[in-house]
Amino acid sequence: CGIIGRVGDGNAIEPLLTGLENLEYRGYDSAGVAVQNGSGIDIEKRSGKVEELKESIGEPLQGEVGIGHTRWSTHGPPTDANAHPHTDESADVAVVHNGIIENYAELKERLAANGYEFTSDTDTEVIPHLIQYYLDAGFDSERAFRQAISELEGSYAVTAMMSGEHVLYAARQGSPLVVGVEDGEYFLASDVPAFLEYTDSVVYLEDGDVVIVDENGVEFTDLEGNPVTRTPETVEWDPEQAGKGEYDHFMLKEIHEQPTSLAQAIEGRIDTRNDRIALSDFEPGTFDDVESVQFVACGTSYHAALYGSLGLNQAGVRSTALLANEYSVSAPPVDDDTLVIAVTQSGETADTLNALRQATAEGARTLTVTNVVGSTAAREADDALFIRAGPEIGVAATKTFSSQAVMLTLLCQRIAADRQGEPPADLESLLPAVESMPSALDEVLDSSDAAAIARQYDDSQSYFFIGRGLGFPVALEGALKFKEITYEHAEGFASGELKHGPLALVTPDTPVFAIFTGQEDEKTLKNAEEAQTRGAPVVAVCPDEHAAVAVADEHLAIPDTNAKLAGLLANVQLQLVSYHAADLLDRPIDKPRNLAKSVTVE
Ligand code: G6P
Repeated sequence: CGIIGRVGDGNAIEPLLTGLENLEYRGYDSAGVAVQNGSGIDIEKRSGKVEELKESIGEPLQGEVGIGHTRWSTHGPPTDANAHPHTDESADVAVVHNGIIENYAELKERLAANGYEFTSDTDTEVIPHLIQYYLDAGFDSERAFRQAISELEGSYAVTAMMSGEHVLYAARQGSPLVVGVEDGEYFLASDVPAFLEYTDSVVYLEDGDVVIVDENGVEFTDLEGNPVTRTPETVEWDPEQAGKGEYDHFMLKEIHEQPTSLAQAIEGRIDTRNDRIALSDFEPGTFDDVESVQFVACGTSYHAALYGSLGLNQAGVRSTALLANEYSVSAPPVDDDTLVIAVTQSGETADTLNALRQATAEGARTLTVTNVVGSTAAREADDALFIRAGPEIGVAATKTFSSQAVMLTLLCQRIAADRQGEPPADLESLLPAVESMPSALDEVLDSSDAAAIARQYDDSQSYFFIGRGLGFPVALEGALKFKEITYEHAEGFASGELKHGPLALVTPDTPVFAIFTGQEDEKTLKNAEEAQTRGAPVVAVCPDEHAAVAVADEHLAIPDTNAKLAGLLANVQLQLVSYHAADLLDRPIDKPRNLAKSVTVE
């Protein structure tokens, strides 16, 4: 989601709408603005794109102070009511918020018991009501804001305004918020690109900061009101580039977002203590009656689906992964004990929706694993599991694959546990490993040699990727990523299949990337050596201590982890190899030729 706020001379509406357009890549479900009109607060908000919001602001709103928000749903569907800004009943307090208020249910109950009426499904709405509660109790605006903020648990970047005041109040805890400073004009935003047309002088707030902004300046304080020193920095980005932050491409930015997006995906969903539940989204016993599972998906999501399906088979539940576009001609029989899981980042892929509809028509139970709360798949499936990866701009999927595969790993553990009446044997070691994934991903990203490897093999003829067990879908995904963005020939194989045909293609000009996950690695190593004997250079993707390191020509290191997750760390190394190889070839990495982010035709 994106936040923008503005205080200064002249009408705020233009900088607010420009800010929302600049932030639209962070959220495109709904948008809204609120401005001080002199006697109160005017609000315009709706589901849909910023363009639609602009159209519905018929009579131009007027006001020198305002806030705006572009939403990407995580709690509640993208409806007009759920769009930000949120207010108290009389619209005396307007608030925009990013993050998750973990104690919102408690706060809502308390406020409702005191007669405050809620009109949305969002966690955000507790904030304006809580501020109003303290205003009603006689607190002045600043004290009411501070008191309300001090009662929030979770993560937030909040910007608020109160009726009749030329002031913005903001607070940051665990969710980014920056201040833009220009002569007589001030901005608050979740991200610098929001206001870069207006100023390049930026203050990055820290967790625990509370700021009060009026036309005379910005007051930086801690939660209690003690002054803190924050110094403006000049950013040297041009507005075009800024959406990518410090990165040259959205794809690279999204690869680097994986520790955060994965942490967001697993937050609050696993219990490593007594009950050891792998996925708290579903009540215990939800999957008791599931006899078999069919996964349907396309492209990268198919590789995540295959990852889930192999994991489920390994956990003792019958399952298969099918390409969604093949489902209409070759679906295995279903009955009401069959669970059909549609894996789709966008929730809008026509092929996947068709398979989902066919499964529903034939009486199967359905579930979708998706990134988009208001998507068609989420609305049509019986259940939905959201991966919370945030918007992905690069056409080649990266962070959504990682989040899908980890959420599917957890889901499979839940299905197996429900069916067997007890947690799978290795759950105890798997759950802490899942919790450590964000830091393991950080380790990979901080020390990757992928750029050097890409350079070393940049004039090769073909690129092969091999893996066994859970390394197999990773090999397929490694090759798909490579061909999508480099336009070079790349293929993924089950490592044991190499000798049944593909070995005929192997030459000194075909590097073989071998993925080691801890599932029969000695066999994969033998297969890699078979390629090496025929002249192919082998790049082992494995931990430092692994036997493959001594055999391989090159090595991409991953931290040692549970075999159910190792392939996902290897995948990040392969994402980086593809990225750097495509960069050397000067390809349009974020928008490869002929490909679309979401294919809504059959
Ligand atoms: C398109 C994209 C792929 C994506 C596939 C499935 O082909 O280019 O990157 O994997 O659609 O998309 P979905 O939104 O269903 O995950």
